Amino acid sequence: MLEQALQAAAALPEGDPLAAASALRAAGFPPDLAAAALTQVALRRKAVTKFGADAAVMHFTRAGLEQATRGPVAARRAARLAAAGATRVADLGCGIGADTIAFARAGLRVHAVDASPETAATASANVLALGLAADVLVEARDAMSVPLDEVDAVFCDPARRTTGGRRVFDPRSYSPPWDFVVGLAARVPMTVLKLAPGIDHALLPPGAEGEWVSVDGDVVEAAAWCGPLAAAPRRATLFQSAPTGSAAAPSVVSLTGNGITAAPVGHIGNFMYDPDGAVVRSHLVAEFAETVDGMLADPTIAYVHTPTYVPTPFGRCYEVLDQLPIALKRLRTALRALDVGSLTILKRGSALDVEELRRSLRLSGSRAAIIALTRVAGAPAVLLLSRVPDPGNAAPSQ
Ligand SMILES: C[S@@+](CC[C@H](N)C(=O)[O-])C[C@H]1O[C@@H](n2cnc3c(N)ncnc32)[C@H](O)[C@@H]1O
Repeated sequence: MLEQALQAAAALPEGDPLAAASALRAAGFPPDLAAAALTQVALRRKAVTKFGADAAVMHFTRAGLEQATRGPVAARRAARLAAAGATRVADLGCGIGADTIAFARAGLRVHAVDASPETAATASANVLALGLAADVLVEARDAMSVPLDEVDAVFCDPARRTTGGRRVFDPRSYSPPWDFVVGLAARVPMTVLKLAPGIDHALLPPGAEGEWVSVDGDVVEAAAWCGPLAAAPRRATLFQSAPTGSAAAPSVVSLTGNGITAAPVGHIGNFMYDPDGAVVRSHLVAEFAETVDGMLADPTIAYVHTPTYVPTPFGRCYEVLDQLPIALKRLRTALRALDVGSLTILKRGSALDVEELRRSLRLSGSRAAIIALTRVAGAPAVLLLSRVPDPGNAAPSQ
């Protein structure tokens, strides 16, 4: 009956939940079932961005979908774990099973547990729906009670939200508790932890590789690769989705380094790069600067300047057209002289409120412009920029 209700709900047009509920009830589905099917179909539609075609047959809870790893990110992690020789992995806090599914597809046997019975049941249903049940055991169970002597790898993605759904930033509020999570590597050397992007580098287990992952420019997670899995002290991994409508897999590039090197400092160049958030969070700005032969214009600001254009996937490139006055009146005069009406404002190292500045400038011209509020050689500066298209893209994303 649930399967029929899901099919009927999926066939209805999006956008009018009341009409959809009436249509399902008119088709003979009880109100509770109709409501559950509509919620599930809405979650499946939302889940397409994370899971692509799999979303159509998967099951979700709202919280489980929000916390789930995106399919391609989970697949890459699973492939790396399999390539390192792992064969049996414990997924401790498996949620709706995004990582569990990826591990099973990479050829690993998985023991997945979640403390929430509803969430574990959802993971179980997903494993079944995707034909992976032979390689996966899902249990509703506290991660801390799982014996680890039968696995050669552990993955733990602790909950980083309160029961009310608010994000928690202090790892000591993670569940399972942080001491248990960081202690896993001492029990099973091939341990991978998924952590919030804001994790303090000092909290990573000693010797672990810290990886920061972005998808289309948004930093989505950090991971600690422990023991023999650590291949470099720090890594930035960037996923770039294929153009809308294309079924191609995302492209992935990765930058590694030690995370402690200082980038060279010089002066403003003809081109300025805004490094991807994964590069900045992984403290790899110096390594990135080396790839484009660039330098900082201020030791504390992560904009990288170069005399010539060098294509790179690791940051957005802008041509530096001019340096504008910092004082409001003179800045307004300069922008009005350029007939600027719409302004994109980048900011690094400036305390100015972007929206307040935009309002105070009162621009009404006919042209678009980009400025960066930043610092150059220790002093506040405003740079007038023009976006250089990403390599392989005709039109830049702003
Ligand atoms: C961030 S989610 C995991 C998401 C999962 N990796 C995915 O991609 O679908 C964390 C999960 O840990 C579970 N959890 C929290 N504390 C736990 C504990 N002590 N034992 C087992 N599971 C726990 C939560 O119920 C939640 O589903």
